[in-house]
This record gives sequence, structure tokens and C-alpha cells, in this order.
Amino acid sequence: MNRYTGRVAMITGAGQGLGRAIAERLAAEGASLALGDRNAVAVKEVAAAIADSTGAAVVPSTVDVADAAAVRTWFESTLDTFGQVDVLVNNAGVFRDSRLEFMTDDDWTAVVDVNLRGAFHCGRAVFGHMKQRGYGRILSLSSMSWRGNFGQVNYAAAKAGVVGLARTIALEGAGHGVTSNVIAPGLIDTPMLASMDARARDKLTGRVPARRIGRPAEIAAAAAYLCAEEAAFVTGVVLDVDGGIGIGSSLR
Ligand SMILES: NC(=O)c1ccc[n+]([C@@H]2O[C@H](COP(=O)([O-])OP(=O)(O)OC[C@H]3O[C@@H](n4cnc5c(N)ncnc54)[C@H](O)[C@@H]3O)[C@@H](O)[C@H]2O)c1
Repeated sequence: MNRYTGRVAMITGAGQGLGRAIAERLAAEGASLALGDRNAVAVKEVAAAIADSTGAAVVPSTVDVADAAAVRTWFESTLDTFGQVDVLVNNAGVFRDSRLEFMTDDDWTAVVDVNLRGAFHCGRAVFGHMKQRGYGRILSLSSMSWRGNFGQVNYAAAKAGVVGLARTIALEGAGHGVTSNVIAPGLIDTPMLASMDARARDKLTGRVPARRIGRPAEIAAAAAYLCAEEAAFVTGVVLDVDGGIGIGSSLR
């Protein structure tokens, strides 16, 4: 499929994990890419690998999404390079888990700053341009934790905030050809999952109805649908891609 021929996508947190997988998938379908990550080495390596394997135009940038000015500069340099932005994927995320009474101000702020403020900064940067062109696809990565998760007050609050942000952008963009959707992944095999407390990870994995963790390519496939032109009438959706763990309790 070549659903992304002539399209330009900005993807945050593209230096590894889901951001990388989404970048690979969109490039394979014809997109040009502006990849942002605060890890300069990783994002350069990913950009070179994708350009090499797909022939796509891929520009890496070192960007901290929590820094509004840096996000603005990244958007403007992407416009200078490609002349347009069709797709934004708000993927950059971090977690710093602990129970409420032990949660430090730093842990709260760091997680909200990247996951929620970062998505706000990037959405705000691209929105006027997309509206003006009458075309845009904004996708934000939340998490199954957005409904609440023990030991994750900061992450759950930020990921629930992402849902509110994305659904509101959906309303503000709907009359202008701009959609805004959310993917709420379950447990997916990335460096982030590998860095989780092993006991908690194993316990959670045992509760996945599909009896396995997910593959990054499975998130990328959902992203490639939601950010494609053909998904024009799908907006404000929160798509669980989680092997069924978000359904709720299971007697198995
Ligand atoms: N892997 C999972 O199981 C899972 C589950 C639910 C939700 N998610 C969400 O999916 C997204 C991607 O997760 P992942 O597993 O690929 O994570 P990851 O930790 O493997 O990769 C995240 C990438 O984001 C980058 N990043 C972090 N902070 C940044 C910042 N301030 N500015 C720019 N880049 C930054 C990192 O350098 C890294 O390259 C995140 O939003 C995460 O919360 C992941």
C-alpha cells in the first residue's frame, strides 16, 4: 500500500520503540518523515536506517517535547524542509512509577511535562497549519493506564489528560479536515516495557486475555490506519490495542 505518498509526518520519540515502529511503517507506505527525539544519537541512527531501507526522505531532530520553543523550532524547520505537515504523532513518553504518598514533585512534573504538555506543545504547533490547509491527522499515544493504574498517579493522570486533549482537538479540527485520535496500547515489547519492574510486568502479562505482549508493528498498523486519508470520518476515538486487557476482569 502507498497510502502516504506525498505526505509528511512528524513523529515524536522516534528514537526507539513505538515511535520507531510507526516511522518505519509510514515510510514503507510512502511518507516523508521528520523524526524528533531528545536522544540525539538514537534518532539519527533510526533516521539513517529508515532512509536506507525505504528510500524515504527522513530528517532527524533533537527535540525535547516538554520545551515549547524547541517544538516550535522543529515544526518551522520541518515546514522549511518539506513545505507541509500532514501527520503529527505524539508518541514521546516516560514513566516514573510510585504510589501517591511517595510520589515526588519531580516525578509528577517530569511525567506530565513529557506525556501531556509535550502533546499539547506539538498539537498547538501544527494545528493552525493543518487547519489552513484543510488537512491533518493528529495521533496521540495514551496507555491502558489512562483509566487508572495502581502506582501510576502521574502517568495515569497524564495519559487521561492526553485523551481529553485529543478529543477536544478532534472537535476543534472536525470542520477543517483535521482529525485527532488516540491509541491506548496495552503491554508492548519495547525498551520502555523492558525497563519496567519485572515482577509487575510479569503479573500484568499474565492478565492479558490474548496471553502475550504486543508487537510494536501491531501499534504501527493501527497508527497507519488512523493517520491515513481514508480515516477522514474517524475522529475523537480512543483505540485500545492491548490484546483485550482493557476490557476488564476475566474469570480465566
Ligand atoms: N510499550 C508499552 O507497553 C506502552 C504501553 C502503553 C503506552 N505506551 C506509550 O507509547 C509511547 C511510546 O512508548 P515506548 O514503549 O516506545 O517507549 P520507549 O521508552 O521505548 O521510547 C520512548 C522514546 O521517547 C523519547 N523521549 C522521551 N522523552 C522525550 C522528550 N521529552 N522529548 C522527545 N523524546 C522523548 C525517548 O528518548 C525514546 O526514544 C509512550 O507515550 C508510552 O507512554 C507504551
